[in-house]
Amino acid sequence: MTDTNEQTTVVRETAFDLSAYLTRQKARVEAALDASITVTYPEKIYESMRYSLMAGGKRLRPILCLATCELLGGTEPMAMPTACALEMIHTMSLIHDDLPAMDNDDYRRGKLTNHKVYGEEIAILAGDGLLAYAFEFVARETRDVPPQRVLEAIARLGRAVGAAGLVGGQVVDLESEGSPDVSERTLTYIHTHKTGALLEACVVCGAILAGASPEQVERLSRYAQNIGLAFQIVDDILDITATQEELGKTAGKDLQANKATYPSLWGLEESRRQAQRLVEQAKAELAPFGEGAAPLSAIADFITRRTN
Ligand code: IPE
Ligand code: IPE
Ligand code: MG
Ligand code: MG
Ligand code: MG
Repeated sequence: MTDTNEQTTVVRETAFDLSAYLTRQKARVEAALDASITVTYPEKIYESMRYSLMAGGKRLRPILCLATCELLGGTEPMAMPTACALEMIHTMSLIHDDLPAMDNDDYRRGKLTNHKVYGEEIAILAGDGLLAYAFEFVARETRDVPPQRVLEAIARLGRAVGAAGLVGGQVVDLESEGSPDVSERTLTYIHTHKTGALLEACVVCGAILAGASPEQVERLSRYAQNIGLAFQIVDDILDITATQEELGKTAGKDLQANKATYPSLWGLEESRRQAQRLVEQAKAELAPFGEGAAPLSAIADFITRRTN
């Protein structure tokens, strides 16, 4: 009897099926995103917002937010509006990142970029529309969460996307383009801000909405900072090693634009090692949460394994 029970426990611990989990959560997020924006007058802007929001993508940010909220005993309705808002903000950042004034990219998520389809003026406004709507959506749609927690989540979102976060990272990314001697410190600033800040907000907001203690928020924030930096290191690696078909965006762009990247500073092998180290550090932060943290632990591993 005991043996069988022990075996069952071991199986449960090791058999977390990340692929099935991601497929299920992605479908739930996409249904919520699909319902979040209705096309009305002036149709062009809503169509443009929906074009990029519904173009696919891994939906990793909303999935992280939901997983963290559930880890701490929260429910899906508590976190889904924030999860959708995170994907709206992320999509805004992609639309703007792809503009000719920034990375000048023609493909995203396997389709033409927003400005290629709708023109630059509408692409800028679609980003603005998504960013503004993200905050309205959290404030209006969040259910079963005390208002103080919702306010804190909104504050964290604003900080993550603004000059202290993603916007600041994008500024230094652009300033460093073509510069021959970007320091390790500057490169880390770019990656932790342009990408890490929003990924950290996903986890932290999920925790706050569920009513996590300050210690839990701190620990999960460290988990997220580690996977956030690892995520952008791997994005830099894939820009060199993956194909356009795999990525859904043009490969080899970083070298062409002379971007400051981890492989340009450290080489591919050392960049891979650093990403792996960060993932191990992230997983170590999850120890006190036990078996319930299996999704967050598996997502950390997925970050270095992914092919797009
Ligand atoms: C791409 O993010 C931009 C970066 C921050 C590196 P993702 O790789 O998460 O893109 P999607 O959402 O899956 O398209
Ligand atoms: C993107 O970094 C970061 C943001 C969009 C905020 P990249 O410029 O490396 O992302 P990709 O490679 O175009 O997806
Ligand atoms: Mg960029
Ligand atoms: Mg880019
Ligand atoms: Mg990139």
